[in-house]
Amino acid sequence: MGARNTLQIPVILSCILLFGAILTTSLEVGYYKKCKFCPQAEDIVRGVVYKYVSKEPGLGAGLIRMFFHDCFVRGCDASILLDPTPQNSNPEKLAIPNFPSLRGFEIIDEAKAALEHVCSGIVSCADIIAFAARDAAFILGKISYDIPSGRLDGKVSNATEVLGALPAPFHNLTVVKALYAVQGLSIDDAVALSGAHSIGRSHCSSFTSRLYPTIDTTMNQGFGSFLRTQCPQNAMDDGVVPQDFVTPNKLDNQYFKNVADLKGLFFSDWSLLTSSETAKLLNDFKNDPELFKTKFAESMVKMGNIGGTQGEVRKTSCRVVNY
Ligand code: HEM
Ligand SMILES: *[C@@H]1O[C@H](CO)[C@@H](O)[C@H](O)[C@H]1NC(C)=O
Ligand SMILES: *[C@@H]1O[C@H](CO)[C@@H](O)[C@H](O)[C@H]1NC(C)=O
Repeated sequence: MGARNTLQIPVILSCILLFGAILTTSLEVGYYKKCKFCPQAEDIVRGVVYKYVSKEPGLGAGLIRMFFHDCFVRGCDASILLDPTPQNSNPEKLAIPNFPSLRGFEIIDEAKAALEHVCSGIVSCADIIAFAARDAAFILGKISYDIPSGRLDGKVSNATEVLGALPAPFHNLTVVKALYAVQGLSIDDAVALSGAHSIGRSHCSSFTSRLYPTIDTTMNQGFGSFLRTQCPQNAMDDGVVPQDFVTPNKLDNQYFKNVADLKGLFFSDWSLLTSSETAKLLNDFKNDPELFKTKFAESMVKMGNIGGTQGEVRKTSCRVVNY
């Protein structure tokens, strides 16, 4: 009896501190469960993600990419989800790297609606993205990890901030490394997280500069000829190809084999071969699928710790700020 009471006091205290996010900026595994504010939160998100991703694996790729694009711009604060409004006509989601390629928004909407039904106003949209990306990694890659939560949703979303923050497919290793460093992430994190290019798709426009007028020498020439058939020059619309033609719906270490064979879609993928440090890690992941899984999970958690500590819990919809 007595022992139980003394245990509860610190738990309640830490919950009050965490919930207010006043005296702490650190996230906690099981935040919504431990504090009993919404113990079912992670299960509810998992159920919704499973429903969509088991039917359409590409949406799982979309969720993992959404987490990355959210975290690199103003931290993991769900700024990626805000819709244009008369007051803010150009939010992040309309920036070139996000529109029209980013997908999975309807999954976040449905998860938020389900959560509002059960525990209104408790679970942040930023945490929903983090949970959803984690669940997608499990469904597509059997990669399993706890993700700390307790993030808050930001009130600012500005498309002009996106281009300067996100690495682009034509960036070299120096630039990629610098953009990760700004976020407090290492080049090892960059290599591990790039393994996400073993799932999902790319639009032709993201890499056709490597195919025409000549196939880049940094690309396997046979692969380049094949990609030309998938992405004809002057096509009417922007086609799509799988990131990984070998195991397109499996989050696995096939990406590292592809890059080693010069069969990555992007110059930025190839650039991981251009330093001895990244080339060694690439080779390690290529040879050891379990090592890749472990490091990918670690780097996803690390990426999830970027910012996201200031703001609010959006009410009702993840697409609008509270007024
Ligand atoms: C140097 C860093 C990176 C660059 C330059 C880059 C670039 C891109 C580009 C251009 C696309 C194709 C978009 C399209 O045309 O549809 C893409 C897709 C994708 N990226 Fe990255 N990316 C990088 C790192 C990451 C990281 C860190 C993650 C996640 C951990 C990630 C996850 C994905 C996924 C899952 C897709 C497929 C999305 C879908 O099918 O909807 N990428 N990336
Ligand atoms: C977005 O950011 C740019 C560049 O920092 C700035 O000029 C612009 O006023 C911002 N837009 C809004 C709506 O805050
Ligand atoms: C990488 O790209 C940047 C920006 O375009 C350029 O200034 C730099 O010289 C490049 N570095 C290498 C090693 O190619």
